[in-house]
Amino acid sequence: MCGIVGYTGKLQAGPVIIDGLAKLEYRGYDSTGMAINDGAKLQIEKAVGRLNVLENLTHDGSTMPGTAGIGHTRWATHGTPSDVNAHPQFNTARTIAVVQNGIIENYIQLKEKLENSGYQFVSETDTEVIAHLLNHYYKKYEKDPMRAIVHSLQRMEGSYAIAVMFEDQPDEVYAVRKDCPLICGISDKGSFAASDATALLKYTRNVYYLDNKVIAKLTKTDGIHFYNLDQEEIEVPMSHVEWDTAAAEKGGYDHFMLKEIYEQPKTVRDTVSPRVKKGEIVIDELGLTDDEIRKIEKIFIVACGSAYHTGVTGKYVIEGLARIPVETDLASEFRYRDPIFTPNSVLIVVSQSGETADTLAALRLAKKNGVRVLAIVNVVGSSIARVADHVFYTWAGPEIAVATTKAYSAQLCAMYLLGMKFARVRGHLDDQHYASMLEDLKRLPDQIELLLNNHEPIQRFANRYIAARDIFFIGRGIDYAISLEGSLKLKEISYIHSEAYAAGELKHGTISLMEEGTLVAAVSTQPDLYEKMISNMEQVKSRGAFVLAVTNVGNTAIEKAADYIIHIPNTNKYFTNSLAIIPLQLFAYYIACSRGCDVDKPRNLAKSVTVE
Ligand code: AGP
Repeated sequence: MCGIVGYTGKLQAGPVIIDGLAKLEYRGYDSTGMAINDGAKLQIEKAVGRLNVLENLTHDGSTMPGTAGIGHTRWATHGTPSDVNAHPQFNTARTIAVVQNGIIENYIQLKEKLENSGYQFVSETDTEVIAHLLNHYYKKYEKDPMRAIVHSLQRMEGSYAIAVMFEDQPDEVYAVRKDCPLICGISDKGSFAASDATALLKYTRNVYYLDNKVIAKLTKTDGIHFYNLDQEEIEVPMSHVEWDTAAAEKGGYDHFMLKEIYEQPKTVRDTVSPRVKKGEIVIDELGLTDDEIRKIEKIFIVACGSAYHTGVTGKYVIEGLARIPVETDLASEFRYRDPIFTPNSVLIVVSQSGETADTLAALRLAKKNGVRVLAIVNVVGSSIARVADHVFYTWAGPEIAVATTKAYSAQLCAMYLLGMKFARVRGHLDDQHYASMLEDLKRLPDQIELLLNNHEPIQRFANRYIAARDIFFIGRGIDYAISLEGSLKLKEISYIHSEAYAAGELKHGTISLMEEGTLVAAVSTQPDLYEKMISNMEQVKSRGAFVLAVTNVGNTAIEKAADYIIHIPNTNKYFTNSLAIIPLQLFAYYIACSRGCDVDKPRNLAKSVTVE
């Protein structure tokens, strides 16, 4: 979603902000803008379209002199993408500039009140309300920025991250968040604010994670000061980002997505190995004693998109191994369905960004009902990580491509580790079985590597389907979970319509869509379901479908029903998703490239979805 950058310091702010916005492009946006204070005046430039439009307009920021500024990439929520709706928004005199991520839920009421007081609005955005509100209180409280901000925040409802500048405070930038991402950073070059650390890595890895409604005052030479709503100065501990700039660069790959696909062996290793010590799974961050694990009556897994798909896998893994009932839910549904929490239930939320609005709301709902929450999260210091009771970090490093790959793989491993740990503690996994599963887990990175090295046949196959209109993915059991993810990957980046079905459901409706040449990707990695899958494949084939099978090495019986086969190495039946997803990711990637799609930044999508 929207990206925010703020800076004040020794450098010219324009280029710093443009550079930061470029790092945030991956979040998804449709227009850009920035405001720079030249010491006497606020200069504001905005443009619809990609960042290069703003770059050209401002000669990479150099035509807007000044050492303090704020910048924005906007993903439209209120009002179409247009120059006037782009941020910064400003008051009528153009002396207060605001950039915002999120939604001001009561903006209509606020707007009405402000209009009744004579304020005139020029944009369709909720953000403009903030600029006029600040103006109102700034005048009322004798040009005291902190009082103006505090009083405005007290009026605003919703979730937001904002950065603000006042023309007559030329060296200062103010930043505050509520349930939307925003961090601050500090270096000898000055003070920074940004939606995430990738925008700051070039300048600093020393950052501050802000709690809700903590106001950061960024100064040119005196660091960053933090205040609560009583305007008292408070301490915020400094943290150190472990990633370096290379982690957020393409590193010679054509796209971030391809780089991230190829990083999966490392991601899987980094997620698993620190949690396997002397032949035992040790998850220090779990926060549950063995006794508490034995008492768990139900697990809820709640997430969105691909993270939800890992939750579907998690259901099969945890129920299968640990015999604990699991309900996996889409966060956007869970939060409104009045779920029944029992005293010994645990909720697991899964999120790469740690900022997904629906997932965060589901987490809060569980906590309100006294349910313990474990978050499987990738981004350190994110909102979900800060609100959950316990955090299982996936250590996948920064994921830039909108379509998740490596974070998804790391989340799958988190599910395996949790399933095995719970099973072991509850006495469902004997020594021999446990040891052999650990061996299989250890082998996964090399097996993924093997599949990646054999990408060419998949690339060739993908090229045959660049004109496809519909592609179906089918599977049973845990293979249904991977079908969901394979289908989502394809549609989000290639814009080819695709559906995933539990293979047994085909004959209840979907089979009517089969025509001569329809491509059906059939995932079959569960030996006890091979026969059932073969019969589903034959059903679609006899109606003209072309069947691409993804199956284990050694499954020869499938040959008669498949037109093309991709083999994955053998592993434990609960871990096959980690291998089957590789050819499906590559297939989606190559088909999208051949169709000339913007693979890393697919249309209409945002990397982290911070609004409902
Ligand atoms: C996956 O490729 C998507 N971009 C999307 O479905 C994503 O998984 C979903 O929005 C959840 O995001 P999160 O993991 O950051 O919570």
